[in-house]
Amino acid sequence: MIEIRRMRPEDAEAAARLEAVCFSHPWSAKAFAQCAADENVCYLMAWEGEKLVGNCGVRNIAGDGEITNVAVDPACRRQRVGTELMNKLLETGRSMGIEAFTLEVRASNQAAIRLYESFGFLLEGTRRNFYEDPREDALIYWKR
Ligand SMILES: CC(C)(COP(=O)(O)OP(=O)(O)OC[C@H]1O[C@@H](n2cnc3c(N)ncnc32)[C@H](O)[C@@H]1OP(=O)(O)O)[C@@H](O)C(=O)NCCC(=O)NCCS
Repeated sequence: MIEIRRMRPEDAEAAARLEAVCFSHPWSAKAFAQCAADENVCYLMAWEGEKLVGNCGVRNIAGDGEITNVAVDPACRRQRVGTELMNKLLETGRSMGIEAFTLEVRASNQAAIRLYESFGFLLEGTRRNFYEDPREDALIYWKR
């Protein structure tokens, strides 16, 4: 049974540990703690008991929602945790006044691309060589 709730400052260490497993340039616990304290930012965390199995966040920039840090524990993937998190994040974002959502994703990240496209995100642009380790283009998606 998965429970999704908003990140609190004391959850920042757990978020950073999951981040380190999922990304080559992981965010620090300090960065997550700052986000948890920022009223324009909402991070959601999916818990299975005491274990953090996924998280994601959105920053409200004058009505545009920038989605970041979508991550699911490797052992828990393909069990709709990402889908549940995204569903709740879009709902929460709308309640914060967000009218359009955007995100960037590595061009080779088929799992994430399919997840976002299943929510109606559309490809609107590319940033050449945006990512490092490995160097790769970013695809820019919007859901308006
Ligand atoms: C992308 C990610 C968050 C998906 O989380 P998840 O919980 O496994 O996703 P879900 O189980 O909700 O999958 C939803 C849909 O996304 C697509 N999908 C997810 N993983 C996939 C994979 N490995 N290959 C192909 N499609 C995939 C499928 O369409 C899937 O639906 P289906 O299982 O009915 O076919 C997860 O793979 C992850 O954490 N990856 C590493 C971090 C990352 O790249 N984050 C995105 C940064 S932009």
